[in-house]
Amino acid sequence: MSDKDTEQAAGSRESLEQAAMQDEQVQDVHAQLLREKEEPTEGFSPIPILLLFVFGALSFWAGVYFVKYSGEYRWDAYNPNFKAGVKKAPPPQISLFDRGAKVYRAQCAQCHQANGNGIAGVYPPLVASDWVTGHSETLARILINGLNGPIVVKGSTYNGNMPAFGPGGLNLRPVEIAGVLTYIRQEWGNDAPEIDTAMMDTHLAAYSARSTPWQADELRRDLGEDLALKASTESKAAPADTETAVEEEAQAIGSASM
Ligand code: HEC
Repeated sequence: MSDKDTEQAAGSRESLEQAAMQDEQVQDVHAQLLREKEEPTEGFSPIPILLLFVFGALSFWAGVYFVKYSGEYRWDAYNPNFKAGVKKAPPPQISLFDRGAKVYRAQCAQCHQANGNGIAGVYPPLVASDWVTGHSETLARILINGLNGPIVVKGSTYNGNMPAFGPGGLNLRPVEIAGVLTYIRQEWGNDAPEIDTAMMDTHLAAYSARSTPWQADELRRDLGEDLALKASTESKAAPADTETAVEEEAQAIGSASM
């Protein structure tokens, strides 16, 4: 062994001792840390049984509270005249006529004008037009498929294009077409029975597939029964039960809210 080797060996022994010292220190620190921590245990800690009872009681109370104070989740629960347990008020209904008035302003007035008089020579009038107040199927046909070619309205001939509003055209909903037809039949002094949504469904089923607009001379061919006329004569013959039922309900609600 050379001198150099001995020197090296002495040096590494020294550094080994130093390392041992450090190990001892580390163990010391670990021991301190361990003392301050809880020993880990196996298993689980159950919810205190009392808490379960408290939650149970709370849920029960909340249930009772809801049943009592929810106002049956009714839409009119914030009405100052609201009384829980009283017969439900019917939801507000907008009449076919009112609905139709809106549709008319949006879809027809730009041509036939708000007053229904049209524009002489271009757009025919709807006021006192027997196309409007006549057979309801004729009118349904015009609206579903449109109209072109010459047509005589109140003695004047028009020759333009009336757009289709059925599924092949501007695609209004049945209730909207029924509404607008009811409107033009009963506004401006026109007086013809309403065309309701069910009638419109019948006509739509018959004419939706047709892809060409009507010509005036075919409009009055092959007509079925006038559904609007039939419904109105039937309701006149037998005074409607439904009307009295609605009245009774309105009274019940009226007296309930006193
Ligand atoms: C783009 C303009 C235009 C719009 C919009 C329009 N029409 Fe017409 N309408 C016409 C024209 C033009 C005629 C005549 C067609 C012809 O000469 O063959 C007509 C004819 C009619 C007729 C038969 C003739 C008469 O005067 O009685 C009725 C009924 C009618 N329209 C109802 C309506 C209704 C209801 C609407 C809305 C849902 C409507 N129209 C929207 C242009 C229009």
